[in-house]
Amino acid sequence: MREPYTSSTVYFQVDPQVPEPRLIALAGETIRNGGLVAFPTETVYGLGANALDEAAVEKIFRAKSRPANDPLIVHIADLSQLPGLAVSVPEIAYRLFQRFAPGALTLVLNKHEAVPANVTAGMDTVAARMPDHAVALALIKAAGVPIAAPSANRFSRPSPTTAQHVADDLEGRVDIILDGGGTAIGLESTILSLVGEAPQVLRPGGVSLEALRAIVPDLTYQPQYLTDGAAAPSPGSMLKHYSPRAKVILFRGDDDLAVWAAMKSFADDHDDVGVMTLEQDATRFVDLDVKVESLGLDLDGAALRLFSALRSLDSRGVEWILARAPDTTGVGLAIGDRLLRAAEGDVIDVKPQH
Ligand code: TXA
Ligand code: MG
Repeated sequence: MREPYTSSTVYFQVDPQVPEPRLIALAGETIRNGGLVAFPTETVYGLGANALDEAAVEKIFRAKSRPANDPLIVHIADLSQLPGLAVSVPEIAYRLFQRFAPGALTLVLNKHEAVPANVTAGMDTVAARMPDHAVALALIKAAGVPIAAPSANRFSRPSPTTAQHVADDLEGRVDIILDGGGTAIGLESTILSLVGEAPQVLRPGGVSLEALRAIVPDLTYQPQYLTDGAAAPSPGSMLKHYSPRAKVILFRGDDDLAVWAAMKSFADDHDDVGVMTLEQDATRFVDLDVKVESLGLDLDGAALRLFSALRSLDSRGVEWILARAPDTTGVGLAIGDRLLRAAEGDVIDVKPQH
């Protein structure tokens, strides 16, 4: 049995492939009437409101305790909605969306005046994406409007990959939670800006840079980790993000044995240590008094489990969470980015032993 929700949050279990039309119609009506609906996407759960209703969007910021200078992604169900959100859309945007929509790619474009200022934090650009999830698409269609939605977590907490995570953070602060089960990718979309001189990745995510480069060979990516959001070119690039309560320490290095030795020695010297590790490496820590969360067998598995492992170790009461930085190829780039933010920059570079 699930924990009961407060009377102000209604909980609907929906079929992730063929969502019940009656439930989707109710949720769509709630969006149209200015309410908040949390819904699954293929990346993480979103906290949605009518993107064209400034007062409804304001509720998102309040529910999340999100600073007003951090703009939202607008979700569409059909490319025909794009001209209502963005102007001077370059041809490359359509080529990218032809390949990656629906999917984990968000494009930053020049904003249409119909989009309220609070959606874009006062900027003249707007972020848009078409999620690859039947529930999200059905909800947007039923609402009849584009849906602004950040990840459905409290500000700076790990993003939610299950409806329970949403409830843990936002119960009583959202009208409806649509539970469509676990998300497929587990970390957020890749954000690509098309408004600058060259296409620029602002956040690595579910679509790899390698895949994007096949269509946009000249794209650039310069990781930016800022400790003060005020100066951020992409406001979401604050370093403190995705933070569990425990202190995360990231271990980086190519020498497997040296990295494990460093992690074990840290665990030996500290109390209440948790470790996040690939399944096949978990045995390295069995002789230690640490709580282990498996990240699965490969990078895709790690992307899927990363945020829930952070939440889970928190609820197991650890003070420290140790993790190893992955290779930066494919989705590894996004995993490393999220880990670095969860660690708030606390990295131990492990030198090779020989
Ligand atoms: O996968 C995802 O992208 C999920 C699901 C729900 O779609 N959404 C998500 O939203 O991760 P959020 O709010 O947690 O992250 C959105 C990021 C923020 O870092 C924000 O700064 C950036 O997108 N963003 C939004 N509009 C922008 C804009 N006009 N220019 C630059 N960055 C923008
Ligand atoms: Mg977020």
